[in-house]
Amino acid sequence: MNYLNGKHILVGVTGGIAAYKSAELVRQLRLSGAVVRVVMTTAAAEFITPLTLQALSGNPVHTDLLDTAAEAAMGHIELARWADALLVAPATADFIARVAEGRANDLLAAVCLACDAPLAIAPAMNRVMWKKPATGENLAKLQAGNVRVLGPAEGLQACGETGPGRMLEPEELVAGLSGMFQTGVLAGRQVLVTAGPTREAIDPVRYLSNRSSGRMGFAVATAAAEAGAAVTLISGPVSLATPAGVRRIDVESAADMYAAVMQAVTVADIFVSVAAVADYRPALVAPQKLKKESAESSLDLIRNPDILAAVAALPDAPFTAGFAAETEAVETNAQNKRLAKGVDMIAANRVGAGQGFDSKENALHVFWEAGEQVLPVTGKGKLARQLLDLIAEQFQNSCHQGKVIKFNAKDSA
Ligand code: C5P
Repeated sequence: MNYLNGKHILVGVTGGIAAYKSAELVRQLRLSGAVVRVVMTTAAAEFITPLTLQALSGNPVHTDLLDTAAEAAMGHIELARWADALLVAPATADFIARVAEGRANDLLAAVCLACDAPLAIAPAMNRVMWKKPATGENLAKLQAGNVRVLGPAEGLQACGETGPGRMLEPEELVAGLSGMFQTGVLAGRQVLVTAGPTREAIDPVRYLSNRSSGRMGFAVATAAAEAGAAVTLISGPVSLATPAGVRRIDVESAADMYAAVMQAVTVADIFVSVAAVADYRPALVAPQKLKKESAESSLDLIRNPDILAAVAALPDAPFTAGFAAETEAVETNAQNKRLAKGVDMIAANRVGAGQGFDSKENALHVFWEAGEQVLPVTGKGKLARQLLDLIAEQFQNSCHQGKVIKFNAKDSA
């Protein structure tokens, strides 16, 4: 399965002869649907031109840590934040040593150090260099820090010798990178997600709604599927494609969403309520389009059911995680909301100023009974994966773990 569609992949190219294969790697990553940016070291630019990689990636190539114009446009921190994953291919012995030491003496090393997204390296070097204890120690250090080492392969080398040290072929690297998104931390679990806004009808043509784009909820559903869960996504009206492998149920109003959730939740191990559910709906829905007869008009509103609180109050509730979109006192309001709704986890975000609703980036402050964690501003896809990791961790520690027995029992019934 291809997990690269829509992912932001930062390809690092260092100075080895295998750099010529990076052109094909970038091309294949884009064919898999990834959005690709390339960072090259100065030595890499001696083997393959930045122009080639710019043309193939469709984005300017980044080379210089100290170029003020480039740093102003997209500096090392922005690149690190942008990336869903980093792949350094080829990774020379020198580059591996520098990353193992935590150096930041060129742009690529600085991005690797500044990035909290998964990092993969594809070593490429002469067989003797590969077998040197120093190289082995550096690699062990990187692997201990969760860096994925892809390859190398054995065979005929550019230097004329035969042995280990050849960079893997581009298609093998694409498959290896894709596999990194398939975490399996929720394998065998059922995850229910709500997303998007709801629409509360006023008359046959008008409704009350909000600015939710559905992106965060869809990103959570994608991340849950990648984590190995069976995912049901109940979505309000949005213009987003259904994530691969996810069962989607479309609804309009909060009442529709409530009914769909209550039906689907019986088999859920985890419920993530991302939808921006309208708190109120018009008390009466006019059967015909309302006319503008008077200078002033008013609308009577009644409360919608709180879906998240209702799920959390179920006798056999799943692990529940909700969102708290706040414009002020984010932490206090989020903690209060967690307690008031009786949920296991609340992910708070500040909305407005290009963040939160209707934007591609977000930051979260996540609270649960025994802890909290800040997930700094980044793309919603990456943020959703980080949140799912936290949910999976807290789910494992929670009393809801046993729910799987119910799900298995139903399966075998
Ligand atoms: O109370 P507030 O709307 O701020 O709470 C937000 C959280 O509660 C979100 O997780 C949202 O999906 C959920 N919610 C809900 N049903 C409502 C209102 C909010 O499930 N009627």
